[in-house]
Amino acid sequence: MKKFAVLGLVALAFAVAAFGVNAQEGKKLSIKDVMKKFPALAKKINKGEGSDAEKKEFVELAKALAANTPKKGDAEEWKKRTATIVGEAEKGEKQPCATNCKGCHDLHKGK
Ligand code: HEC
Repeated sequence: MKKFAVLGLVALAFAVAAFGVNAQEGKKLSIKDVMKKFPALAKKINKGEGSDAEKKEFVELAKALAANTPKKGDAEEWKKRTATIVGEAEKGEKQPCATNCKGCHDLHKGK
């Protein structure tokens, strides 16, 4: 089981490297689009309850987030934070950065 998980991670890493930021197949999701599904998935996966399909979708959402630039706050901070979220999403375990809603909203979300 563990071996399988590691293999999955390796495959994912390759997929990420191959697709990079252009992963959205031409259709770019805005931050608002991402925020519709992101919270529920983040919380579920953080609790260890996400299915493989949900984890995969969450990685896509995290990448879509990273491909955006927020209207508010420092773009470099955003890059670092969303890169952390993508990394955690790919692990598919605890999601401390993604579930730190307020930490990110305070910096990057307007009122
Ligand atoms: C990496 C940063 C980040 C994280 C983490 C994050 N958000 Fe957001 N969220 C944003 C930004 C930026 C916006 C503002 C988007 C805009 O107005 O363009 C936003 C907007 C929203 C909105 C409003 C969407 C709308 O239609 O106006 C909701 C609801 C929301 N987030 C919920 C959450 C919840 C719940 C969590 C935690 C589970 C969370 N977000 C985590 C960055 C983040």
